[in-house]
Amino acid sequence: MKIGIIGSGMIGATSARLFVKAGHEVAISNSRGPESLKGLVQELGPRARATSVEEAAAFGELVLLAIPLKAYDTLPRAQLSGKIVIDAMNYYPQRDGQLDFKGGSSSQFVAQQLPGARVVKTFNTMYFKPLGEEGKPGAPLEDRLVLFVAGDDAEARQTVSRLIEQIGFTPIDTGTLATGGKHQQPGTAIYNRLMQPAQAREELSKM
Ligand SMILES: NC(=O)c1ccc[n+]([C@@H]2O[C@H](COP(=O)([O-])OP(=O)(O)OC[C@H]3O[C@@H](n4cnc5c(N)ncnc54)[C@H](OP(=O)(O)O)[C@@H]3O)[C@@H](O)[C@H]2O)c1
Repeated sequence: MKIGIIGSGMIGATSARLFVKAGHEVAISNSRGPESLKGLVQELGPRARATSVEEAAAFGELVLLAIPLKAYDTLPRAQLSGKIVIDAMNYYPQRDGQLDFKGGSSSQFVAQQLPGARVVKTFNTMYFKPLGEEGKPGAPLEDRLVLFVAGDDAEARQTVSRLIEQIGFTPIDTGTLATGGKHQQPGTAIYNRLMQPAQAREELSKM
């Protein structure tokens, strides 16, 4: 699959390594431009290229958003329309300033900014270190760590879930962007906790 990545920091670069290792083609971008990504794409090898943000969005059948949420209004809406978009972003008011989600989840807010994008919230509940180091492709699904998945588009959720399995984690569905999206936000019982599927299902049943 062709994957665009917006943001080349802890989550963007870590995900790029995992995607390339799983055999996908990656176009990665950041705020400073492709020149600043020379070292990273060299490390990633021939399946990776450094691009502008717009080019990364246009390149990907699936596009990962891995930037601070406060930069939401710089995202290339036209290029993201129709794409499966992973929202890995979390809302931290100290970093992102005051944003008004009008009672919805931060991912609903993101989806509202991106007309036509098929937004799936995932990769946001796990710290980048275990994300980079703890995936176990080939291990039984019940023995792996969980990445939670929320979204309103069933096909998009399925595509993202397959990708999660390929990089060695187990996708666990939390529901729509409204409900599951909120379950996955900072401060909840499943946020930033390493869990296998049995425990994840148990925690979710209590939410
Ligand atoms: N760190 C984690 O473990 C973790 C885990 C789960 C979710 N998250 C969430 O994932 C997102 C990224 O976190 P991170 O820790 O990876 O951040 P980070 O290491 O600070 O990296 C942020 C990246 O976003 C890029 N960026 C900033 N504004 C941009 C814009 N307007 N257009 C394009 N690129 C832009 C930066 O570009 P430059 O490199 O050019 O500065 C940088 O590459 C955040 O929303 C965070 O809450 C983080």
